[in-house]
Amino acid sequence: MKIPLANPDLGALERRSLLEAFDSGWLTSFGEKHREFEASFAKEVGTSASLAIGNGTQALHLVLLGLGIGPGDKVVVPSLTYVATANAVKYVGAEPVFADIAAETWCLDEEKIDKVISHGVKAVIVVHLYGHPAPLRDIAEYCKKKKIYLIEDVAEAPFTEAQGLKVGTVGVASTFSFYANKVLTSGEGGAITSNDLELVESMKQFRDQGMDRTRRYFFPIIGYNYRMTNLQAAIALVQLGRRKELIEKRLELSHFYRDELSGIKGITMQPIAKWANWSPWLFSILVDNDIKRDSLIEHVANQGVETRPFFIPIHTLPPYVKAKKARDLSNTVDVSKRGLNIPTWSNMPNDAARQVVSAIKSFFRI
Ligand SMILES: Cc1ncc(COP(=O)(O)O)c(C=O)c1O
Repeated sequence: MKIPLANPDLGALERRSLLEAFDSGWLTSFGEKHREFEASFAKEVGTSASLAIGNGTQALHLVLLGLGIGPGDKVVVPSLTYVATANAVKYVGAEPVFADIAAETWCLDEEKIDKVISHGVKAVIVVHLYGHPAPLRDIAEYCKKKKIYLIEDVAEAPFTEAQGLKVGTVGVASTFSFYANKVLTSGEGGAITSNDLELVESMKQFRDQGMDRTRRYFFPIIGYNYRMTNLQAAIALVQLGRRKELIEKRLELSHFYRDELSGIKGITMQPIAKWANWSPWLFSILVDNDIKRDSLIEHVANQGVETRPFFIPIHTLPPYVKAKKARDLSNTVDVSKRGLNIPTWSNMPNDAARQVVSAIKSFFRI
């Protein structure tokens, strides 16, 4: 059996909701499902408002636009993340400053941020990586003290908690992705949550081509078309309603993987902080060294198991080699070289999970 890395968990409920949107004749963001999704998403995440967006990358761009971050400004980001986090900073003409991750969480913490803070830093984008949240309470306190914005990139860890705080509720604004391999999906899709209603209004205007809120077809600023369609919202709404079930199934799978794999000499599991209430996105392991990691990828691929090496550090990618960075990015480089995501989807059959485990074990001759 071929086992993909990810697979969307969509069923009769999503299909029905999609057809309802289709039959309503409202395909665009003016539809009922879109309105319902925005209201429900804010409620479920725990903020005063949410905006439905075309995808997570656009959501990041809108937050930076809404905060007025632009040329001459700097934004601290991790280097171990999906490239969209840094690209969004470039879109507004600001400069990303790369900080190292903490070994205990694979996320930024206040110490790592402090190592790169300098004049001109306006914001930090914290990424809750591979299902594990960053230490939000500590980072929020730090940002308050330094008078810089905290933005949360929640694409990979929706509905997790850190130090007693819910992700997506702590930053001035937080972004989500509903890409097909994510915990909740609408194919492509995204959202922003925030408690700052003025900021929400501003981001909404940027999302909706810049049109004036009170004067139709008057455009006082240059905006974008970053809207989610009613069809995407119809699917996302059902996924949101199923979120507990979807996350529970991912947790069950991750318990199975942990039980089966944690004793193998040569691999270690993703660390989970005591204060974290995590939920797996792509189950993640570290292999002893990069050569072994790459041989393992090939070995399990020959047995039909798709895996994915961790993100390549962004500070090493051609558009970013000259960017400002921490002197020491050793955790980023080490984790990136040795990290591996293995198949993780909520509707994964038990025998597929067993096949993944036995493919990995056979590499280690177990
Ligand atoms: C951390 C992170 N940020 C941003 C994004 C961008 O989201 P999207 O693919 O919906 O544009 C992703 C995922 O794809 C991501 O993993």
